[in-house]
Amino acid sequence: MAGKSDKFYITTPIFYVNDVPHLGHSYTMVVSDIIARWHRLLGERVFFLTGTDEHGEKIAKAAELRKEEVKAFVDKLAEAYKACWKGLSISNDDFIRTTERRHEEVVFRFIEAMDRNGDLYKGEYEGWYCVPDETFFTDLQLKEGRCPVCGRDVQKLKEESYFFRLSKYQDRLLEYYKANENFLAPKSRSAEIINRVKGGLKDLSITRKSVKWGIPFPMDRKHNIYVWVEALINYLSALDWRSEKSDLFWPADVHMVGKEINWFHSVIWPAMLFSAGLEPPRKVFAHGWWTVEGQKMSKSVGNVVDPMAMAGKYSVDALRYFLVREIPLGDDGDFSEKALRLRLNNELAADLGNLAYRVLSITEKFDGKIEGSPELEASLDLKGIEKDMQELNLSGALERIWHFIKACNKYVNDKKPWEMDGAELSNALYNLLESLRIISILVSPFMPETSDRLNAQLGVKSGLLSEAKFGAFKGKVKKGEYLFRKIDA
Ligand code: ME8
Ligand code: MG
Repeated sequence: MAGKSDKFYITTPIFYVNDVPHLGHSYTMVVSDIIARWHRLLGERVFFLTGTDEHGEKIAKAAELRKEEVKAFVDKLAEAYKACWKGLSISNDDFIRTTERRHEEVVFRFIEAMDRNGDLYKGEYEGWYCVPDETFFTDLQLKEGRCPVCGRDVQKLKEESYFFRLSKYQDRLLEYYKANENFLAPKSRSAEIINRVKGGLKDLSITRKSVKWGIPFPMDRKHNIYVWVEALINYLSALDWRSEKSDLFWPADVHMVGKEINWFHSVIWPAMLFSAGLEPPRKVFAHGWWTVEGQKMSKSVGNVVDPMAMAGKYSVDALRYFLVREIPLGDDGDFSEKALRLRLNNELAADLGNLAYRVLSITEKFDGKIEGSPELEASLDLKGIEKDMQELNLSGALERIWHFIKACNKYVNDKKPWEMDGAELSNALYNLLESLRIISILVSPFMPETSDRLNAQLGVKSGLLSEAKFGAFKGKVKKGEYLFRKIDA
C-alpha cells in the first residue's frame, strides 16, 4: 500500500436531521470544502466526509411533531442536506447517514472493542438531559436550572444505564494534548478544554433505555446507544473501519466542528479511540458561530438565514467568498446582507471581475504572440498563502491573494496597455494573463465555479498548485461575461 504522507482526511459534523440546513451548517461545509479542495490542489489523496445524525430523542420528537413516520422523515431531510451541499458546490467524497447498515456494523465492533478493554460497566444515571443538544448535565453544570449550552429547559433523568470509564483517560488525554500542540485548535480555545480535563472527568452514560429510536447496545439490547457516542463513530464507519481504506485514512487530519461540540470531539472522542485501541485525530478545529444581529441563528429565535436563498441572490461563489473572508476562522461573526454586498461589489466585481474583463478585452484585440518576462511575480506571496492554508488561516490566504489581484490592477493602471503595441504590449499581456491563470488556481478552492469560468475565458485547463508560477502563457483567450456583477441594495 502507498504511504500515508500524502493522504488527507477531513470531516464535518454530521448534522441533525430535525430540520433543513441553514447558513451555520453551510459555513462549516464551505470551510471544510475549501480545505479539502486546497489539499487536492497539493496533489494529495483527499477524503472529505460529511453526513447526517439521524437517531435519538430530538429527531424522534421532530418527526412526531410533524406526524411523520421517523424513517420517512429522516430520509426526506437527508436529501435536503445533500441537495443543499450540491447547490453550494461542496465536493464531499462520501455522505454517511447513521441509519445506514454500514454505520451500525462499525458501531457494534467499536463498542465491543471498548468492552473488551474493560471500559464499560452497568450502573444508574441520575441527572439532567437537554434534548435539543442531546447532552447530559450535572446539577453544577446547569445555568439557572437550564441547559448551559442553549439555555433551554432540561429534563430530569434517572435510569439504568451502561457507562464508559472516561475518568480513566484523564492523564492520557492531557499527555496527548501536551505532545500534540496542534491538536486543540484554535489555540484560543485550548485552555478551556485542558482546564476542564484537569478538573477531572466523570464516567459517561452511553446507553438510554427510554429512547427507542437508536442503535441497540450490543451487550444488552434493551438499551440503545447514546446518540452522541454512536454519532462520533461515523468518522470510522464511513471508512469501513478495519479495511484498507481505514488503514490509509485514519487518523483523521481535521475534524472541523462548531465550538459548542468541541468537548465531544476533543475529549470524549479521543478517549473512546484510546479505549478501542485507535489513534486520536490529528486536529480538532472548533470554529465560531454566526449570529444575526448578535443572536445565534436558531429556528426558535426565528432568525435563520437560508443559504440557498443567499446563493440565488448573490451567487454561490460570492456567498462562499463572503463566509470565509468576513471573519477569521475561529472567531464569531455577525451576518448581514449589506456586508455581503460590499464584499461582492468591491472585492469580487471591482477587483477580480474587473481585472479579468479589462485584460481579456485588450487581449482579444491583440493578434501577436504573447511572451515576455515576469514582472508581477514579486507581488505574489505564494509561500505566505501556503503557510496560511496550512494553518487554516483562510481569510489570511485570501488577503494575500487579493494583494496580488490589486497589484495586477495597479499594473494595468500604471502601464496603460491600451496605449501600447508590439513587444511592449505582448509583455504586459503576458504578465497579466499568467497572473490571471495563477489567480484562477489560487481561488479555485474558494470559488470553484468562478475558477472554471475564468479558465474557460483564458483557454487554459485547471491546474495544480505546482503550476501556480510564471511560465509560458499557452491559453487561447476568449473573452466572456463579467465574472461578477455589482448588486445594489
Ligand atoms: O451538533 N454558526 O448537529 P447540529 C456556525 N449532530 N456554525 C453553526 C451554526 C452557527 N450559527 N449553527 C450550526 C450536531 N452550526 C451533532 C453533531 S458530530 C459527530 C454530531 C454548525 O445539526 C457547526 O458546525 O446541531 C455546529 O457544530 C454544527 O452545525 C451543529 O450541527
Ligand atoms: Mg446543535
